Amino acid sequence: MKIIEKHALVLRIVHWLNAPLLMLMIWSGIMIYWANDIYPGFFPEVVYRILGASSSLARGLAIHFFVAWFFTVNGAVYLGWIFFSGHWRELFPTVDSFRLAYPTLLHDLGLRNEAPPRGPKFNSLQRITYSGVVILGILGVLSGLAIYKPVQLNWLTSLFGGYEGARLLHFLVMICFCLFVVVHLVQVARAGWNNFRSMVAGFEVKTD
Ligand code: HEM
Repeated sequence: MKIIEKHALVLRIVHWLNAPLLMLMIWSGIMIYWANDIYPGFFPEVVYRILGASSSLARGLAIHFFVAWFFTVNGAVYLGWIFFSGHWRELFPTVDSFRLAYPTLLHDLGLRNEAPPRGPKFNSLQRITYSGVVILGILGVLSGLAIYKPVQLNWLTSLFGGYEGARLLHFLVMICFCLFVVVHLVQVARAGWNNFRSMVAGFEVKTD
């Protein structure tokens, strides 16, 4: 039996801060969206009721703009650390990751016995989705800034095809984050205690 270091302390702190920050961003975002739901019927009334989002525009805006700074700084620390530590080599997908994505998906779904080759830390799908979620974070912050200050940052807003384009992208980012979190939690539960503990304590136990 061997104890192997898996996740650095900075990564673990940033990861566990990110989870509640993202939840607060989504919750307060839905409060804001409630006041002008331009994609009709997306959220049935019951969702607003459960989240206590009805008639809460001012509260939603206050929480969203306050938490957004922490979410952005936390994300920037993660991004800086990825490059500084060289973690990007394990995280970013390679050409092989895209080639192996489908067989890895089949394996994860239990439709293929043999596990495709994987890196020392992440398999091809983990590389693609974890890197994808970093891009989602960047797009979320940039599209948020574009609709927060569409006059001062008009160059940014026009980069997203104008105010409506930026707003749609911001909404889609939120949906993708939700989908990621659902799949992520299922996969974490399937991977088991050893893997979960590695994100808390930093080490993994390997049996020979
Ligand atoms: C309470 C909910 C969460 C739990 C229990 C959880 C658990 C974990 C665990 C155990 C790992 C390591 C998995 C592995 O080795 O593949 C991990 C990695 C990761 N999680 Fe989460 N997670 C949660 C929420 C989130 C959220 C909300 C996000 C972002 C939207 C996120 C993004 C990531 C990323 C990007 C990694 C890879 C980190 C890296 O090595 O750079 N997680 N998570």
